[in-house]
Amino acid sequence: MKVLLIGNGGREHALAYKIAQSSKVEKIYCSKGNGGTAVEEKCENVNLSTIEELANFAEENKIDLTIVGPEKELCDGIVDEFKSRGLKIFGPSKEAAKLEGSKAFSKDFMRKYGVKTAEYGNFDNLDEALRYVERCEIPVVVKADGLAAGKGVIIASTREEAIDAVKELMENRTLGDAGKTIVIEEFLEGVEASILSITDGEVIIPFISSKDHKAIGEGNTGLNTGGMGTIAPNPYCTDEVLKDFSENIMIPTLEGIKKENLDYIGIIFFGVMITKKGVYLLEYNVRMGDPETQVVLPLMESDLVDVIDSAINKNLKNIKVLFKNAYACCVIGASKGYPKKYEKGFEITGIDNSKAKTFFAGVKEEDGKLLTNGGRVLGVTSIGKTLEQARANAYAGIENIKFDGMYYRKDIGK
Ligand code: AMP
Ligand code: GLY
Repeated sequence: MKVLLIGNGGREHALAYKIAQSSKVEKIYCSKGNGGTAVEEKCENVNLSTIEELANFAEENKIDLTIVGPEKELCDGIVDEFKSRGLKIFGPSKEAAKLEGSKAFSKDFMRKYGVKTAEYGNFDNLDEALRYVERCEIPVVVKADGLAAGKGVIIASTREEAIDAVKELMENRTLGDAGKTIVIEEFLEGVEASILSITDGEVIIPFISSKDHKAIGEGNTGLNTGGMGTIAPNPYCTDEVLKDFSENIMIPTLEGIKKENLDYIGIIFFGVMITKKGVYLLEYNVRMGDPETQVVLPLMESDLVDVIDSAINKNLKNIKVLFKNAYACCVIGASKGYPKKYEKGFEITGIDNSKAKTFFAGVKEEDGKLLTNGGRVLGVTSIGKTLEQARANAYAGIENIKFDGMYYRKDIGK
């Protein structure tokens, strides 16, 4: 098989690494890929930009399967375009991708199908939104409706902050059209879990649970990032929590997908909050998490390409997705200054994949040298029989890696 993999982050490097392990796969084109996918077995980077360019490439090169990493292309309708040309692709349709692309749409979907979630209101009128935050309970959460690369959620701990957040999004349009409509919702207290899963529209099979560490600082302090590290399985996802998740979130979601006739064959990633009052759904993502993928896929025993094929053939009900009875830990190395301004172009040294695997994100290769090229630069993943062992190996790996201004959290999985 020839596979086209879309995306250029750490998630896509981990996907490429896992897909390459399938004996069915002979070649993986990564667009645009990064310094990691450039040297991974069976992989070659290609530089394609628009959906049309990607579809033309798939046609001309007789690609057997296209796998989409990021939400952007899915929300822009890449799956619809590929399918209309008879090209095999794995991912939700444009309409189904609204479960991530529009928070107002997804909250209404949750309410309609009884998926347990925070109380909320959707607003497209500034005065109404302001009237609401002037009397609602505080803290409150203000969210931009559209895609905002992780910048669209403001947790307001005072009324002034809530009012400011509404004005910034709706009046000043700090996030552009993403803030034309907003969601204002109840603040939930608890611990978060990421549950990636796969669906063929008929069943949903959850993968092993994982836990992200979103804040830049140790002890979960400071600004939110795309994710500074992950562990799997998530220690808070007990059997009881998973049962609650299944009954109150996963099953009603599947019901909704069927009743709405959403053409959904792809990854569905549930971001949940485990609270004293049970498990709540914070959000749907229509793609894998980054850096969740970097711990979930290394633990997956099944052949990912087989699993994806089963989904495309609507045959998930007849398969099992197997995971190792082990733990994984991924520690992200970031550029100094991230998630705010940072510099790029520093040489990276000390990568050794013998005990832990390094997945590249913001890394490019130039004249045989590896250079930093983003905020989150790389992630080191290790597996262990215990979480402690996985952590120790991941940290041993990242401690050897050097680049100017390198920063990583020391408490991932602690
Ligand atoms: P979302 O994009 O909706 O997952 O929100 C991003 C992050 O904001 C989540 O991972 C949570 O840390 C936080 N968050 C979102 N909604 C809530 C809520 N209702 N209560 C508390 N924290 C929230
Ligand atoms: N790590 C969180 C996400 O991928 O959305």
